[in-house]
Amino acid sequence: MTSSRHTFSRSQKKNPPLLKPDPTRDIAFDVLCACLHQRRPLTLTESLSQAAVTYQAESRDRAAAHRLIATTLRYLGTLRTVLEPFLRKEPPEPVQIALMMGCTQLLYLETPPHAAVNTIVALLRRKRLAPFAHLANAVLRKIAREGLSLLENLDQPRLNIPQWLWHSWSKIGPHVPRAIATSLCHESPLDITLRPNTPFFKALQQSGGVLLPNGSLRFSAGTNVTELPGYAQGAFWVQDAAASLPAFLLAAQKGENITDLCAAPGGKTAQLALAGAHITAIENNPARMAQLQDTLQRLQLTVNLIEADATTWKPSLLQDALLLDAPCSATGIARRHPDVLWTKRPRDLTTLTATQDCLLTAAKNMLRPGGRLIYTVCSLQEEEGPARAKAAEAMGFVPSPFTREELAFLPEALTPEGWFRTHPGLWSEKGGMDGFFAARFIRRN
Ligand SMILES: C[S@@+](CC[C@H](N)C(=O)[O-])C[C@H]1O[C@@H](n2cnc3c(N)ncnc32)[C@H](O)[C@@H]1O
Repeated sequence: MTSSRHTFSRSQKKNPPLLKPDPTRDIAFDVLCACLHQRRPLTLTESLSQAAVTYQAESRDRAAAHRLIATTLRYLGTLRTVLEPFLRKEPPEPVQIALMMGCTQLLYLETPPHAAVNTIVALLRRKRLAPFAHLANAVLRKIAREGLSLLENLDQPRLNIPQWLWHSWSKIGPHVPRAIATSLCHESPLDITLRPNTPFFKALQQSGGVLLPNGSLRFSAGTNVTELPGYAQGAFWVQDAAASLPAFLLAAQKGENITDLCAAPGGKTAQLALAGAHITAIENNPARMAQLQDTLQRLQLTVNLIEADATTWKPSLLQDALLLDAPCSATGIARRHPDVLWTKRPRDLTTLTATQDCLLTAAKNMLRPGGRLIYTVCSLQEEEGPARAKAAEAMGFVPSPFTREELAFLPEALTPEGWFRTHPGLWSEKGGMDGFFAARFIRRN
């Protein structure tokens, strides 16, 4: 952050910024507009990839754009509050987005004030919003002058979370929304899951990896995973510590027939395959199936891959166990994907829970009697977690609660019902974790 007050020199005033290309801001603006203004049904990662191709961006520009986008989304509520008193009349949303990008640069990214202002003025000109260039220049200069004092007395964690999400998270516990919101202010660390007995363990620790109680290694945010020792040799894969736990709790046994019903990008499939089980992985999205293939190839794992809709697919023989990592609102992974905070709506939950129930119904007919199912979602929402576990029970699945022994390294994630529930405020002293819900069931004989 920058706290210095800044005055603009005469030469800066005389020379208006040229319309030279600026892929970082162009990409960030397009992605933020797609997410907040056009409300395109793309994830931040998908929009970013598309925009990077459009602007033929180098990886450095793409990384800088990602940082600008993610920080803007993380502090969106604060940025709107800071800007409000400087705007007599609300400008069109794309202009507001450009102004928020300017504020992010000034207040959170340590961009020199003249660069923070000039890049946004130039951006508006390039995006055919030149009539608002004077407004942006005036507003951002005032904000540059006032600096970090603008953030004093603001309850930033509260401002950065939409009301409906704050309210829904308070049902997990009264202090949970603030704990989550505080965690969301920070970039998340990089966690990796290791291949058992990998010879690269020591080298990875020496490269900064900190061993977590569940066995994952944690690196600081921004670590380049492809440069870590053992990446090319398939010694590990990227997976948040919490994300590794549902597959761990399925306790796959050597020789078992197990199907991973919603498999891509494949972190959980890899865990199951490494346990020595015969794994079938179902995925209905061809692009994500390609990602899954790449992951398994790098890890040199053999899995029966099937591109199919898991609500209608039928196995040729009844399975010993199933992992159902269902599509969901993804509010549990907002630390890594802060777009979900602003793109998801309460009404989305109706469609998502209907799909989750279809998948659960289909799963019932794939299991042998006595076979086990883990239902999991990376969601913090009651409707997608506890309510679906109850729906599964109503369908005839028998609960098989997780035990204290199984979760000895993370007892706070065990609920009285025997479900597993994490949120980004847990392990806060270690850098937090993603939000996951998981419940285990047995098929009645
Ligand atoms: C939460 S993600 C799974 C993450 C994955 N288990 C992992 O650990 O890497 C859900 C996946 O299910 C896929 N999916 C959604 N609906 C599906 C369906 N009806 N049949 C098969 N796959 C589906 C999505 O494309 C997405 O890749």
